[in-house]
Amino acid sequence: MQMDQQTLESALQGLGLGGVRYYPRVGSTNDEAARWALEGAPDMALVAADEQTAGRGRLGRRWLTPAGAALAFSLVLYPGQAIPTTLPRLTALGALAVCTALEEHYHLAAQIKWPNDVLVARRKVAGVLVEAQWQGAELGAVVLGIGINVATQAVSAAPTLDYPASTLETELGAAPDRLELLRQVLSASRHWRECVARPEFLQAWEAHLAFRNEWVQVWPGNLTAGQAATPWYEGQICGLAADGALQLYTATGAVVSVEAGEIKLRPKE
Ligand code: BTN
Repeated sequence: MQMDQQTLESALQGLGLGGVRYYPRVGSTNDEAARWALEGAPDMALVAADEQTAGRGRLGRRWLTPAGAALAFSLVLYPGQAIPTTLPRLTALGALAVCTALEEHYHLAAQIKWPNDVLVARRKVAGVLVEAQWQGAELGAVVLGIGINVATQAVSAAPTLDYPASTLETELGAAPDRLELLRQVLSASRHWRECVARPEFLQAWEAHLAFRNEWVQVWPGNLTAGQAATPWYEGQICGLAADGALQLYTATGAVVSVEAGEIKLRPKE
């Protein structure tokens, strides 16, 4: 279904959204949501766009959102007090919401490539970008941005430097309706938000971890040409710590907790 302000508002009724702003074409929905937050956006305010001209991913990477082919949206959230444990969980909240919507409504087995990618058949179909607004040491609003590759045109034909990409159309044989998918992901986000601080959230996150028991390397995320090409860590993914850090079982038998970085499968020797 075609997206516009009115169809979006009526399709998303009853989800507890604080407001909806739709843009046929925008730089980045995360930027619009951040601007709205500075003007006092309500909790669960949604910004959605058909096309992004300056969509971005983690580590300043470009995120492609061609018109009519993808879902690109951002939610404004006010997480309240429990910052240290809740903030890293918000990225997982977005990823988990996409995974559960894909599982429940499309029977796709979706997994989370820690910390923020959603994979189907080991290829990336969605990404999550969380950006926080601080007032000194106080956390103000958080913008939770989600991009989903729906139709085949959503990904560039050129191989990405980041990670092999796919689309829901490729995985399902037909592109799902974007409005329905948006509703399903927002509804799942609402569910996961209610239990974000509870043990079952961590359990669900852990159960969706991609590459469990596989050997991976963790690389600095922002390597520039000429920098030493050495991974920070190498080990088998064995789970998550309570704060959401990735746990690796290393060759020496030690378990290390990884708080940041880029996961790559260890190349075969
Ligand atoms: C990543 O894979 O690194 C994260 C991608 C996040 C993309 C979404 S699309 C909606 C929102 N607006 C942006 O500019 N980025 C996020």
